[in-house]
Amino acid sequence: MSKADPCKNLHITTFGCQMNVYDSERLAGLLSAQGYRRVEDINSADLIILNTCSVRQRAEHKVYSFLGGLKELKKDKPRLLIGVGGCVAQQEGKRLLEDIPHLDFVFGTRVLERVPELLADAAAGRRRALTPLEEVQSVPGPLLLARPGLKSLVTVMHGCNNFCAYCVVPYVRGRERSRPAEDVLQEVAALAEAGAKEVTLLGQNVNSYRDPATGLDFPGLLARVAELESVLRIRFTTSHPKDLSPGLMEAMAGIPHVMEELHLPVQAGSDRVLKAMNRGYTRAQYLGKVAELKKRVPSVALGSDMIVGFPGETEEDFQQSLSILRAVGYDYLYSFKYSDRPFTKASRLADKLPDTVKAERLGRLQALQREISLALHKELVGQVEEVLVEGPAKKGEGLMTGRSRAGRAVNFPGPLDLTGRLVKVIIKEGHVNSLKGRLWPPDEGE
Ligand code: SAH
Ligand code: SF4
Ligand code: F3S
Repeated sequence: MSKADPCKNLHITTFGCQMNVYDSERLAGLLSAQGYRRVEDINSADLIILNTCSVRQRAEHKVYSFLGGLKELKKDKPRLLIGVGGCVAQQEGKRLLEDIPHLDFVFGTRVLERVPELLADAAAGRRRALTPLEEVQSVPGPLLLARPGLKSLVTVMHGCNNFCAYCVVPYVRGRERSRPAEDVLQEVAALAEAGAKEVTLLGQNVNSYRDPATGLDFPGLLARVAELESVLRIRFTTSHPKDLSPGLMEAMAGIPHVMEELHLPVQAGSDRVLKAMNRGYTRAQYLGKVAELKKRVPSVALGSDMIVGFPGETEEDFQQSLSILRAVGYDYLYSFKYSDRPFTKASRLADKLPDTVKAERLGRLQALQREISLALHKELVGQVEEVLVEGPAKKGEGLMTGRSRAGRAVNFPGPLDLTGRLVKVIIKEGHVNSLKGRLWPPDEGE
């Protein structure tokens, strides 16, 4: 395969979760070796790649409408190549090529490293869809992240074995596979070298991580990453409640570089719904683990995901989802209306709820969460927080922004050159989604 002309323009639009963001980075890195440089402006692109998400119907629809919008562009620029990857690509495979004539290639979630080959074929007029799943090894590969930032992502495991009744992820990402710890450590070290101060270790269920060769578990991996001195902060997501082990709590309590933040999706508050969802824990077990964690890591901030309107969810079930928000006291919540997904057990259940009911419940859930977040954040007024400064705040003249150890957005007046540094900020205001404060102590200027 001959190398492409130097400096062709690559545009990638990414939908979905952080694992897709990470994959897009890898892909950009991979294609830079083929002479592609990443651009924001879609109209100047020679190659457009869509990295897609299928977790809810709406996410999937976005992909089709985005692709529809590219039809004219392709007409004007016949040599433009368009590829679709990610979870919708894995789900639909060659159907996408059949349905969308202006699409050139399709690649699944486990074959990123073969995109150059698909690209060469597409340039020669051979339209292909490549979506094998189980027979393919996880993508370890060389360090080809395109743009390491202050905060960087590193996927430590691919896929999921949990088969929650509503979820398409195990079908589009395949079975769980952990990356070798040495690969992860090398990658984190290289990111740190390139300026990353914070890494987030990613997986659909990170706490079931196991090094394929040595059996090193997730708390062990955290300890190894923490040995890399230049990484100031380590976060990780997502943790499945059933796998939240005493060892992980211990690591959070005992390793100073591991931040006091845990995304621990509960999904529902009633045992009946949790069982129907196949989540593998009861409300009491979940609350028990939360209590244990709060005891060991008192400053921990908890976040969650919640689905409303799962098939058969009654008002009583829903009341339990509301009450668990208060019982835990989440810092933030991502909440969704249940959506039917292909292959899933829940999609075949009776008792689907009308959209109006789901929308109404979602509204009530979100209103309650806003109240809880606001109250928690107001309680922080007067506290001094350690903040990793990310740069100027989007809103507010002269304001800088960063995150506290617990992951809360903190805005404060300060000079631009604090970017990338750890500072102390005393909190003056608590809002639903952020905190506002002043550098502390005030007279030292930082
Ligand atoms: N692995 C993670 C998250 C996976 S997807 C976990 O286990 O928590 C992100 C979130 O999307 C899920 O936590 C869930 O709340 C939501 N989600 C997944 N499938 C959904 C569906 N069919 N309808 C509505 N929300 C869904
Ligand atoms: Fe989906 Fe459940 Fe796996 Fe999360 S743990 S990705 S919700 S199947
Ligand atoms: Fe979406 Fe796939 Fe992530 S379905 S949430 S992009 S794993």
